[in-house]
Amino acid sequence: MTKQEILRGAGDLPDWPEQTLRGHALDGYRYTSSEFAEKEWSSLWTKVWLLLGREEEMPTPGDWQQEEVGRESIVMVRQTDRSIKAFYNVCQHRGQRLVSEEKGHARRFICPYHSWAWNTDGSLDFVQDPDDFPGGDPCGKLKLAEIPCEVFAGFIWVNMDPDCVSLREFLGPVWSEWSVYGIEKWKRYLARTTVLPVNWKVVMDNFNESYHVNTVHRPKGADVEKLRIHSGVDTSYTTSRFDMADEGHGRMIMLGGYAGPAIDKEGMVGEPLATILREWGLEPADFTGRGEATREALQQARRELGPDRGYGYFDDLCDSQLTDAYHYTLFPNFAVSLWVDGFHFLRARPHPTDPGKCLFDNWWYAPDPAGSEGPVRTTAGLVKRDAAVAHEVFDLGKQSMGLTIDQDISIFPAQQMGMRSRGYKGSYLSRQESRVSRLHEMVDDCIAGRQPWKQKN
Ligand code: FES
Ligand SMILES: [Fe+2]
Repeated sequence: MTKQEILRGAGDLPDWPEQTLRGHALDGYRYTSSEFAEKEWSSLWTKVWLLLGREEEMPTPGDWQQEEVGRESIVMVRQTDRSIKAFYNVCQHRGQRLVSEEKGHARRFICPYHSWAWNTDGSLDFVQDPDDFPGGDPCGKLKLAEIPCEVFAGFIWVNMDPDCVSLREFLGPVWSEWSVYGIEKWKRYLARTTVLPVNWKVVMDNFNESYHVNTVHRPKGADVEKLRIHSGVDTSYTTSRFDMADEGHGRMIMLGGYAGPAIDKEGMVGEPLATILREWGLEPADFTGRGEATREALQQARRELGPDRGYGYFDDLCDSQLTDAYHYTLFPNFAVSLWVDGFHFLRARPHPTDPGKCLFDNWWYAPDPAGSEGPVRTTAGLVKRDAAVAHEVFDLGKQSMGLTIDQDISIFPAQQMGMRSRGYKGSYLSRQESRVSRLHEMVDDCIAGRQPWKQKN
């Protein structure tokens, strides 16, 4: 079967396999306990593939990036043969971290403590007083501790487990579904990071369900029918598709490009969908009173006009992908909304010592086809296409993390406090929160020594 046949099918992507959930209640302990966080560290964080860097950030040999996950810091370095290696950020002399910046360029990493110099391939090039070591000159003997590292969709993924499966095996169906977009060529238009006063699972639970949308993201004064439609996306569980992969990842597909009943009193299509329709040669007024027709019209317009406008990959997308909201949650900590022209990722990394905190990232990538004009739509509003986007790191509340994301964040701290209450007896979940159950069952499986992506083999 060709890629085209697989993806086009009946105009839609195939379902992922059915999963059976154990469905136990989730108690507060797993969000608050240092003991539980320690189990997660040894059997989960150090066993999974983690998305840590972006390849385009390090174009030339010697360019490096550094990111933290829990108590570890990982350095990723471009090699002379163009490959990328990843190392623990630790000097093998007496344990000093080698770099503290987010990124840079180095011919060698010079340790700030006693000036040992490590080559970018991890070998040791120089030590002071080499003849003073009873064990012999450490050069040629010691190496930086390297960990598995792969590149996919332009991102750098690392795994602290030396016996890990390949990234492709770990990602399961996500690999082929993402491959057709050419995300590796997309540019960054937003990168914001802050520390949240909540366990990482509070964040990921939220992005594993849409049950909260009508409460937390409720438009002011909206009537009941309109509540379901946000920015042209129908968030109702009755029309959404929910999938769970054998490997532990989740997918939720919501109808998009869809005015439905979310039209104003005169029956007109609202914003931002009206502007999007105009961008693709459609007149919103033509859909007055028939909001159900916008989705298919937009799919056809993108199918016809997309390739000429530089969106060649539209040819490889199914109709649904041309309009709908594809929300992926990759186990354990990576939530992606993949739009026809946007890759919105949210990531929650565990705090080094405190189970009641996490590092939270909100990033946006988008294609930039030659000749394209106009701003890029992100969760933080419109961003100029030629804007060079710096990574912004700030204390919570000092600035916005992004429009809807701030609404999500506003809920989290009080939930974390509730998790500490003696009065909380554990969760009682709806079907549309199945992926929340699944996340926690995956965590429990890892702690029990069963890594679902390895069980398949
Ligand atoms: S700890 Fe790195 S040179 Fe001493
Ligand atoms: Fe939300």
